[in-house]
Amino acid sequence: MSSKIVSAVLLCAFVPAAFAAGADAPSFDNGVEITSIIKEAKLRAKEIAAVKASGAKTKGTSQWISLGAGDVSTLDAATFPLGEPVAKSDRAMVFEMPDELLPLLSKFMHSKFNRCGGFFAHRTRQGAEQDLAGPIKATGGPYTIDQQSWVKPLLSNVKEAEVRSTIESMAGYNNRYYTADTGVAAAKWLASRWQSLAAKIPGAKVDLVNHDGWAQPSVVLTIPGGDMAQEIVVLGGHLDSINQWGGNEARAPGADDNASGIATLTEAIRVLADAGFKPRRTVQFMGYAAEEVGLRGSADIAAQYQKAGKKVVGVVQYDMTGFKGSSEDIFLLTDNVDADLTQFMGKLIDEYVGVKWSTTECGYACSDHASWTQNGYPSALPFEASFDGMNHALHTENDTLGTIGGSAEHAVPFVKLAIAFASELAKTPQAARLAKAQSPAASGSK
Ligand code: BES
Ligand code: ZN
Repeated sequence: MSSKIVSAVLLCAFVPAAFAAGADAPSFDNGVEITSIIKEAKLRAKEIAAVKASGAKTKGTSQWISLGAGDVSTLDAATFPLGEPVAKSDRAMVFEMPDELLPLLSKFMHSKFNRCGGFFAHRTRQGAEQDLAGPIKATGGPYTIDQQSWVKPLLSNVKEAEVRSTIESMAGYNNRYYTADTGVAAAKWLASRWQSLAAKIPGAKVDLVNHDGWAQPSVVLTIPGGDMAQEIVVLGGHLDSINQWGGNEARAPGADDNASGIATLTEAIRVLADAGFKPRRTVQFMGYAAEEVGLRGSADIAAQYQKAGKKVVGVVQYDMTGFKGSSEDIFLLTDNVDADLTQFMGKLIDEYVGVKWSTTECGYACSDHASWTQNGYPSALPFEASFDGMNHALHTENDTLGTIGGSAEHAVPFVKLAIAFASELAKTPQAARLAKAQSPAASGSK
């Protein structure tokens, strides 16, 4: 698969509290010594320029980076070696950047702004230049609620123990890092778990989607639609995990980030499959590879869908559903998402889930929903807490089931929301039939 956006951020992770606020030395920003980052970046840029000038081939390939205009000024002021922009608009600028400088840019952005992301890397200049105008406006709606007779009886079938069991299986791998053997094994485990559930649905199948450049595949379960099969509904979450201090060997259980999201989707699949789900639109459940290193698996898939002209009517991303960190139970993300679909999620919660919800924002392209948004598809993200209240054990060896309280109770409303989302966006022929059978007029006429 070729990818339009190859990575947003590399090595980007939250800085633990002990290293975070109020560093003493002036050259430190959020615990990272930025002078040395700039120095190393300048050195690398000089070396690469020298190799290029000598006519020899450079080691890596170039990426095309799009950056917000405001961020460019900050980088310029810090004398980060961006070079000259190759294209610009009021909103963003595009730079050519050697592979080797990407991790340094990522480190700089994180320490300077105390956030990840802020730039998109593309394999082609043309892809980067699309960002100059901003993402294409998504059109997925109108979204309607009329599947009550099908959805409501299913909600009490959701089992916390099932969600917990998937979290335990996924967190049982040493890590699910995108280049580790255990990262590949965890993806294969998920594919076989989903396959055992898909077996109950006629025509459903599970595919491993391989990506160029790393070993871990994404996992896609497809339930073919009926009379509107060309239209697709996507429910996804990332299956990889990361330890911010290490790579292939470091322990990264990722129980909350994001075994919880994968377990939420898996339980929705189980309940829908057991009930004989027969969507009118095609429904795809996706476990993305390599989210933690720049949304790479989802970027690959979303770009492929755009290129193929696929019509995706709505995408929901589940990334962290296990930790109760705020008084409301569900927080709808408001940035890098589709406003109409997000508003509709609120209505689905009120109609089917009945928990308190609020809104929050990441402030950057923090998860795979952004890959879909970037490719012009409507996406939404229901999150476990307000951004400030989220589980701060993420990306460490402490992101365990214990840290979320030994239970998957907090994820249960998210499963209900996923069942409602899949049913209301894809619609079912069963709903009308059930409504008729349940109406007093129907029983009275017998
Ligand atoms: N689950 C995290 C972050 C997150 C926070 C997602 C709030 C959704 C809502 C996600 O796995 C993550 O770590 N994302 C990266 C960004 C990515 C571009 C590498 C991050 O925030 O460092
Ligand atoms: Zn993460």
